[in-house]
Order: sequence, then C-alpha cells, then structure tokens
Amino acid sequence: MAKIPLFFVSLLLLFFFSSSAIPSQNPNPNPTALTAHDELKNNGFPIGLLPTNVLDYSLNRTSGDFSVNLGDLCKITLPPDNYLATYSKKVTGKLVEGRIADLDGIRVRAFFQWWSITGIRLSGENLVFEVGMVTAKYASKNFDESPACEGQRSSS
Ligand SMILES: *[C@@H]1O[C@H](CO)[C@@H](O)[C@H](O)[C@H]1NC(C)=O
Repeated sequence: MAKIPLFFVSLLLLFFFSSSAIPSQNPNPNPTALTAHDELKNNGFPIGLLPTNVLDYSLNRTSGDFSVNLGDLCKITLPPDNYLATYSKKVTGKLVEGRIADLDGIRVRAFFQWWSITGIRLSGENLVFEVGMVTAKYASKNFDESPACEGQRSSS
C-alpha cells in the first residue's frame, strides 16, 4: 500500500481547519489595516512563515524592527519535512529588503535538538533559513498557507 506523505495530510488538515474557521469568526475586524501577514507578502515573503493567530504586531518602517504578538506559545509542523517548530509568544526581528534578520522566537526541532532560526532570506523562489552559520533552503511555495497552531486551548 502506498504511503500518503505526511506533508499532504497536514495540508489537508490545514485546509480543513482554515475553511471551517472562517464562517465562525471575523478574520479581519479592521479591513483597512495591514496585517503582519500582509507585511510579509509586501516584502516578498510567504504568509505561511507566521501562524494564523497573530494578535498584533508592530513594524518600524525606518529600521525594519518588528515584533509579532501571538498571545501564546505556538506549535506547528513545518512543511515539507515535518519538522516541529515552536513560536514564542513574542517573535521579534528586523525586516529588511529580502531578509528577516536578528530573528528571535522561532525554534525548530531537528536531529534531536532544538535550533533557533536566526534569519530567513529570500533567494529566488526559495527561502533560506539560517540557524547561526548553517542554512537550509526550501521552496517558498511550501509556505503559501498560514498554519494554525496545534493543540491550542480554545480559550481565545
Ligand atoms: C524607528 O527606527 C528609527 C531608526 O533606527 C529610530 O530612529 C526611531 O526612533 C524608531 N521609531 C520608533 C517608533 O521606535
């Protein structure tokens, strides 16, 4: 029997959760304001780098310094290799042209350890994730959908 790649299973789940969530809640109470996801898109980054549950964010357009408030620790499984990632309640960094630098608050579990993602660069159709001196490249299209946090309490 053919194995169904986990990636597609998670995509299906994502689709299910995002489509079922839309009718029950207003996704954008202030449609004229830019969201953190819009800011990513405007800078050429895919929205899937941030989970759906962004409470608020700030961005200094001069320096590029940003802070994203997720309200709670967030756990997601990153495509395409299904690495477990955690997002801190607050994710900070510097958004400069084609690059997110000084990133703080996103960690990935790989090779039996937690690694802090320190930066993300655009490279053509790819995203280059920086973990200190080490980099890993993935096609941007893997991150076209914003993931929902896993196993979150339904308190919000
Ligand atoms: C934005 O960044 C600039 C340059 O670093 C700085 O001078 C300014 O005070 C910052 N603005 C805010 C609101 O923090």
